[in-house]
Amino acid sequence: MPMADFVRVADVAELPDPGKTLVEVDGDMVALFHVGGTYYAIDDVCTHDGGPLADGELRDHKIACPRHGAKFDIRTGAALSMPAVRPTRAHDVKVEDGGVWVRLRADAGAGGPPLHGAVAAPVVPISTCCTPAASREAGGSPAESTGPGGPLCEDRVREMLKEVKDPELFVNIVDLGLIYGVTLSPAADVPGKQHVAIDMTMTSPACPAGPQLIADTKRAVGASPEVSAVEVRIVMDPPWTPDRMTEAARDQLGIF
Ligand code: FES
Repeated sequence: MPMADFVRVADVAELPDPGKTLVEVDGDMVALFHVGGTYYAIDDVCTHDGGPLADGELRDHKIACPRHGAKFDIRTGAALSMPAVRPTRAHDVKVEDGGVWVRLRADAGAGGPPLHGAVAAPVVPISTCCTPAASREAGGSPAESTGPGGPLCEDRVREMLKEVKDPELFVNIVDLGLIYGVTLSPAADVPGKQHVAIDMTMTSPACPAGPQLIADTKRAVGASPEVSAVEVRIVMDPPWTPDRMTEAARDQLGIF
């Protein structure tokens, strides 16, 4: 594919330093930045869910998506924080004849690898706190029911939930910090079985993976013979933040 030509998008005097604006280049909307005497251009598209980056807050060389707060490096397009995990495209910029010129690049952002990689999940040892003795010592739920896998308790449900992975991040929802609570109560209609209510959040209110995560959660826990029904309650307050992730999730996503 032939390389696109540079297109003049602004006069150098138009954009303060620091400053940002939205320009059109060959039909694509591009966020143009002026920081520290240098101009930068990236797609006006947040890779999380299409948010308009040019409308975001600019700080140094970082732009925050106005929709859910993901940050991108304006120099490279690299995704710097959740919920975005993929770079947005960064474009070539030059200053000539008193103007700012942008040339679209066909490739993805030069910000290196995405924030996450499709890495196999680390092996997590199965918790042993659900043995009857340990559970009693720990003040286990009075609503425990005993099944072939031992008594059902919150920790066992959380282990089941580790089968459910965010389809974009490939990290399980427990290590991502999406599970706010698990409540077990005896099923009124099926003696000996448990009703399981799960308080779950999303990385953003408009998380496109939400319906799939809810369905997978119900499937993973509902498969247990000790469970009569699974209720998933979506909780957005307090909002999810990256510091809710476990160390295992951070390692997997390459966040330090
Ligand atoms: S659309 Fe940008 S963070 Fe969600």
